[in-house]
Amino acid sequence: MDHLDLDRDTITKAYARWAPVYDLVFGTVFERGRAAAIAAAERVGGRILEVGVGTGISLPDYKRTTRLCGVDISAPMLEKAAERVRELGLTNVEGLFVMDAEKLEFPDASFDVVMAQYVVTTVPNPEATLDEFARVLKPGGEIVLVSRVGAELGLRKSLEKWFAPAARKLGWRTEFPFERYTNWVERNSTVHLIERRAVPPFGHFSLIRFGKSVGAGQLTPPRSALVEAGSKVGR
Ligand SMILES: C[S@@+](CC[C@H](N)C(=O)[O-])C[C@H]1O[C@@H](n2cnc3c(N)ncnc32)[C@H](O)[C@@H]1O
Repeated sequence: MDHLDLDRDTITKAYARWAPVYDLVFGTVFERGRAAAIAAAERVGGRILEVGVGTGISLPDYKRTTRLCGVDISAPMLEKAAERVRELGLTNVEGLFVMDAEKLEFPDASFDVVMAQYVVTTVPNPEATLDEFARVLKPGGEIVLVSRVGAELGLRKSLEKWFAPAARKLGWRTEFPFERYTNWVERNSTVHLIERRAVPPFGHFSLIRFGKSVGAGQLTPPRSALVEAGSKVGR
């Protein structure tokens, strides 16, 4: 592992520190990205797994008819989520589990949507984590991500590199080129890119959707398609 990369211990320590103040710091700033991701997930509907659910800040924003499961590696973050579920009576939340996104303890094809909001740049091994998302997703389902995409070049790229060591201590990566997703799609072969669209704040974040082919595991999957920001391709 790159000495500057993230490891599980750094992450769990960082989010144990964030838990008491997370909603205050990251509640409003990520609101619009979360709303866009939830709208996309609910268009698919069915049973939704939210990975890295954290304090459960997004849970009340789903329709009460949407069946949800949440997982997170941080017990202190998840305790906040459980409190929220109890206080708001969110009976559509089927369960909250301390679980590593890289080793999801669900059978194959368990969910219609796998959602991860502001999570992929925080996990130690993003590609293995995305493989797990694809595994637990039903054929025809969608992976919906909101995530920070690193700059390809220019001043922002230099600043991201400079800030990277501090960001890792806080629990995330600043450098994460979109190429990592396109390379993953090429390799995984059960998924294809549906959409990449910029979401606030600061133009650094994207809503990214992948579809799992209906015949995944049986037929030759469709080739992935790189989609320019703002455009869509059908499934
Ligand atoms: C930036 S927070 C995002 C929380 C929430 N999704 C939101 O929208 O605000 C990242 C979350 O991912 C969780 N996380 C990081 N690595 C993880 C892993 N390997 N497995 C499960 N959860 C993880 C962290 O504990 C934290 O709660």
